[in-house]
Amino acid sequence: MRIDIITIFPEMFGPVLNESIIKRAQTKNKVKIYIHDLRDYTLDKHRKVDDRPFGGGSGMVLQPEPIFRAVKAIKSKIKSLKSKVTVILLCPQGAKLDQKIVQGLSKCKHLILICGHYEGIDERVRQSLADKEISIGDYVLTGGELPAMVLVDCLVRLIPGVLGDKNSLNFESFEGNLLEYPQYTRPAVYRGMGVPKVLLSGDHKKIEAWRKQEALKRTRQKRPDLVKN
Ligand SMILES: C[S@@+](CC[C@H](N)C(=O)[O-])C[C@H]1O[C@@H](n2cnc3c(N)ncnc32)[C@H](O)[C@@H]1O
Repeated sequence: MRIDIITIFPEMFGPVLNESIIKRAQTKNKVKIYIHDLRDYTLDKHRKVDDRPFGGGSGMVLQPEPIFRAVKAIKSKIKSLKSKVTVILLCPQGAKLDQKIVQGLSKCKHLILICGHYEGIDERVRQSLADKEISIGDYVLTGGELPAMVLVDCLVRLIPGVLGDKNSLNFESFEGNLLEYPQYTRPAVYRGMGVPKVLLSGDHKKIEAWRKQEALKRTRQKRPDLVKN
């Protein structure tokens, strides 16, 4: 998978993309992530990328020109790869991100993520450049950089071979519309709190049954909407 991210704050990405599992995934060539500074695509000599909204109002809006130019440049650079490109606009009005959407996107070979900022992005980007709009929840952030990082993080861990133990994907929350069962590790008793005996029994069948039951119980308690689905 290849992911290109267009942003006016490229330096925000380093600390997240160059650590832990995402870093390892890149080192192992499971994913290639390129960060593009939107200001590199402006025709303005002061590298200006925003302007006041038509019709008045507060704040600034990202102009269409640099974004269209950035997407065109990225697409032409990777033409040789012949993979279909999906352009995603991060915005609070988009489809709310969930594991199903992540699974769908994880099958894409090439994604371009556009991060908005200030009051947002000129509507013509949404109209004729974006294939999908994704929101990470019903709240408003200052920019699309954190949402882009959230999306990259949950996508990368689904790429085969990225997580060490492939079973860790099978029993996770939201797989099969269930939340994960409770997890415990050593010590078996901590501050007077014990671990369910079945987990210490070594009986794998019983453990599996207990986990299924707990996952269902937990989902009914915490997210009855998932059980309904
Ligand atoms: C301050 S927000 C703009 C909000 C816009 N004025 C509105 O009311 O819909 C600036 C940028 O942050 C990003 N953003 C903010 N909240 C987001 C969310 N929940 N999910 C995805 N992106 C978000 C988008 O890229 C957006 O263009």
